[in-house]
Amino acid sequence: MIVSLALLALVAGCDALATQQVLLDEPSVEGRKPNFLFILTDDQDLRMNSPAYMPLTQAKIKEKGTEFQNHFVTTSLCCPSRVSLWTGRQAHNTNVTDVKPPYGGYPKFVAQGFNDNFLPVWLQSAGYNTFYTGKLFNAHSLWTYNAPFVNGFNGSDFLLDPYTYSYWNSTYQRNHEPPRSYEGQYTTDVMQQKALGLLEDALDSDSPFFLTVAPIAPHTNIDVEGVGEGAPKMTEPLPAPRHAHLFADAKVPRTPNFNPLKDSGAGWVATVELQNQTVIDYEDHLYRQRLRALQAVDEMVDALITRLGSSGQIDNTYIIYSADNGYHIGHHRLPPGKTTGYEEDIRVPFYIRGPGVPEGEIVDRVTTHIDIAPTLFELAGVPLREDFDGTPMPVSTKKSESILHEHVTVEFWGHAVLEGDYGSIGHGGAFFMPNNTYKSARILSEEYNLYYSVWCDGDHELYDLSTDPYQMNNIYYKLNSMQLLGRPLSRVIDRVDALLLVLKSCQGHTCIQPWRVLHPDGSVDSLRDALHLQYDAFYTNQPKVSYSACENGYLIAAEGPQVGLQYRDGLSWEAWT
Ligand SMILES: *[C@@H]1O[C@H](CO)[C@@H](O)[C@H](O)[C@H]1NC(C)=O
Ligand SMILES: *[C@@H]1O[C@H](CO)[C@@H](O)[C@H](O)[C@H]1NC(C)=O
Ligand SMILES: *[C@@H]1O[C@H](CO)[C@@H](O)[C@H](O)[C@H]1NC(C)=O
Ligand SMILES: *[C@@H]1O[C@H](CO)[C@@H](O)[C@H](O)[C@H]1NC(C)=O
Ligand SMILES: *[C@@H]1O[C@H](CO)[C@@H](O)[C@H](O)[C@H]1NC(C)=O
Repeated sequence: MIVSLALLALVAGCDALATQQVLLDEPSVEGRKPNFLFILTDDQDLRMNSPAYMPLTQAKIKEKGTEFQNHFVTTSLCCPSRVSLWTGRQAHNTNVTDVKPPYGGYPKFVAQGFNDNFLPVWLQSAGYNTFYTGKLFNAHSLWTYNAPFVNGFNGSDFLLDPYTYSYWNSTYQRNHEPPRSYEGQYTTDVMQQKALGLLEDALDSDSPFFLTVAPIAPHTNIDVEGVGEGAPKMTEPLPAPRHAHLFADAKVPRTPNFNPLKDSGAGWVATVELQNQTVIDYEDHLYRQRLRALQAVDEMVDALITRLGSSGQIDNTYIIYSADNGYHIGHHRLPPGKTTGYEEDIRVPFYIRGPGVPEGEIVDRVTTHIDIAPTLFELAGVPLREDFDGTPMPVSTKKSESILHEHVTVEFWGHAVLEGDYGSIGHGGAFFMPNNTYKSARILSEEYNLYYSVWCDGDHELYDLSTDPYQMNNIYYKLNSMQLLGRPLSRVIDRVDALLLVLKSCQGHTCIQPWRVLHPDGSVDSLRDALHLQYDAFYTNQPKVSYSACENGYLIAAEGPQVGLQYRDGLSWEAWT
């Protein structure tokens, strides 16, 4: 303890490290490590207010715990986002960047070695019994489920493609048994029974447990008959009949970026045409169907928590609620979907309750999906891995190794997927848009609120969300006429571009403290620090983030400069080492 106090005193002067403390390696209640129940929904937005339509989840998780209201995903697409979540790594470090081979899906996850090296495997090594039901990854299918089987779970019951998103004809696959069809049964109700069964198994043992329940709602429905020559047809999500009548008046909130009269965004987004009333009516209907489909999830959450409550384990269980990525409907005129770097797609709900987690608290700090695995490690008393690109979230009143960060790295490769009945706005009526390859930095502190992106086609975006929360006014091209944060705009852009240059190929601690790559002496730990006049020439001379082509995967040769400069003193700088 003397050592840790001395360490604390040493770092106390440094802002970014002020919250870094020494891990408390102390067993929880009755010497047993805490349990985890993780509810992970699919495509659930935060910005269109869907969590507010889940009163049981609100009352039993959010209000009993803490909400992280600035929680972001790092890639806005199911499979890459989930692989990042389960490994604690950015997609450029997993290289699982798509939903299907060659760049993604379950086969790519296996090929990258992660089936032996991801969160459930690590938790088993730490003494946990691990359980899972629901969707794991895309392309985890009738043809791939046993080639090889998923590792790391003591009990599992996975949804399998191509029936994963079929609300009324799902296929589940339990442990090492053959797949089984649930034709005619409502998928979330099937899952509730499976989840409760796995929870019984979990409660039967003296070991701590980790149980993930990953329903498909409110993702669009995909029926196999709809899988034609091109992309599968993604239609409105389907509610359970008992919820079909709800929310008849609900509509997509009419924020200024909903189907705006003026075009907005960059890359292909800026070319999308205004939607007519037929399309808007359909979008409102799809929005209502999402809210309705979430009701069975809300009931499932209630059932699980009620069972935990009667088990005597609830006070030793962390219950986490989140989604794999956000969602937009009509924003920037886009058909329903995700895959963009805009707020609607990268912000997701994140609630946690459990031992030591303050009740009814709202945290503003920036956190991301790659912080979740480190968070669970810390709560389970397991030393953090060097290859974690994230840092624990400060969820409880216990000491935490959490390192404050103001950035989120958002990355994407390949096609945007266009969903719903009117999604066919791609070239030749396709349900996808090529050249949706970009890197972004979302930078958020008490003082500033920015989004900066560089697209594979050369386009750039900079939004000041403190004055433009709906990202309608791209100020990147106002180079000569604007001041931002008290500096000429071009000076700010030099800084955020250099930050993105670090982030787009960061690994481990350089993802957590990127400014240290540019300023190895530790004198700069935030955009504010970097804006100092004395660094102007240094930042102007940095190589700029760029692409030489639009690729569908992480092909380094297309991704411009890989190495930048690091600051030595006012007169010299040299390449990163
Ligand atoms: C869970 O699986 C792990 C890894 O295979 C094993 O060590 C552990 O004994 C299992 N737990 C139970 C209760 O079987
Ligand atoms: C439901 O899924 C099964 C495969 O699991 C398939 O054989 C059957 O045709 C499907 N039913 C419908 C109505 O699509
Ligand atoms: C509205 O737009 C959709 C999609 O482009 C089109 O199919 C439909 O015919 C249009 N409806 C009207 C009334 O113009
Ligand atoms: C995509 O970008 C490439 C350049 O990498 C360009 O040649 C092509 O025309 C673009 N395609 C579309 C549909 O914009
Ligand atoms: C990522 O995976 C793709 C597909 O296998 C491969 O072509 C590419 O070289 C990989 N990228 C890196 C950086 O390893």
